[in-house]
Amino acid sequence: MSNQILKGKKGLIFGALDESSIAWKVAEAAVAEGASITLTNAPIAMRMGKINELAAKCNAEVVPADATSSEDLTNLLKRCMEIHNGPIDFILHSIGMSPNVRKKKPYTDLNYEFYLKTLDVSALSLHKVLQAAYQLDALSEWGSVVGLTYIASQRTFPNYNDMADAKATLESIARSFGYHYGIKKKVRVNTISQSPTWTTAGSGVEGFDIFFKYANDISPLGNASAEACAQYCITMFSDYTKMITMQNLFHDGGFSFTGVSEKLMDAVSKL
Ligand SMILES: NC(=O)c1ccc[n+]([C@@H]2O[C@H](COP(=O)([O-])OP(=O)(O)OC[C@H]3O[C@@H](n4cnc5c(N)ncnc54)[C@H](O)[C@@H]3O)[C@@H](O)[C@H]2O)c1
Repeated sequence: MSNQILKGKKGLIFGALDESSIAWKVAEAAVAEGASITLTNAPIAMRMGKINELAAKCNAEVVPADATSSEDLTNLLKRCMEIHNGPIDFILHSIGMSPNVRKKKPYTDLNYEFYLKTLDVSALSLHKVLQAAYQLDALSEWGSVVGLTYIASQRTFPNYNDMADAKATLESIARSFGYHYGIKKKVRVNTISQSPTWTTAGSGVEGFDIFFKYANDISPLGNASAEACAQYCITMFSDYTKMITMQNLFHDGGFSFTGVSEKLMDAVSKL
């Protein structure tokens, strides 16, 4: 499906690690819709992942940057403006990592150094990207910034651990910065709250297979795929969604507003 709704637009995409990454699908969809893009990821992910493969497919340059480093982000945005001959139109923030989740530390016994890292990588990085863009004037008028989030920010999913706190902060940053960037340049900032999706970050959460199935069984439309999420991101980068800002937008097949499904009740009745 391509309607060229991003024709002539220029964007920066964070977080494509391998073909399962949501950012990977967004990059492919953005190019299919007519955008030209720059790709970025943490230097370590460049060595482990397959981003150069994606770059070749998308005719994009890859600029490494650690999203916790304001210096890296400033250099990245400056390079991006050189590549695209001026300010860009959209940014995807698709970044998440928790050392506590990785090391299986329970929420009641967190390592606080790890906790700060989780917040820095998964939430503050959105502020750092926005602040660097704001100060460099790196986004065009009516530009669009999307961050990816998960409903554990608002409802408790015990195994999501300190990532829940990071996502709550991420969503708040989108609202707060959305106000300031809207006033300055009509730039819109939103988060998309996506269904559980099989990716490196997603499947690192303990019991992921069970809550993937739970969400799928409760959602009237089933879980939203990474490809569907990419299509939604594309609409948010397009001119068709110009007046949407400071929102947390659910992209979850109806999960967030369903109390219980018949399928789940059937399953529970058989326990
Ligand atoms: N997979 C899911 O179930 C799910 C559901 C809702 C939201 N999300 C969110 O979607 C986003 C993308 O995750 P994904 O599921 O595609 O997994 P993924 O593992 O493919 O992507 C996570 C990315 O974050 C990058 N990253 C980590 N530390 C970084 C740093 N310091 N600087 C720059 N980049 C860094 C990684 O290199 C990786 O590319 C995340 O914000 C995640 O929380 C995922």
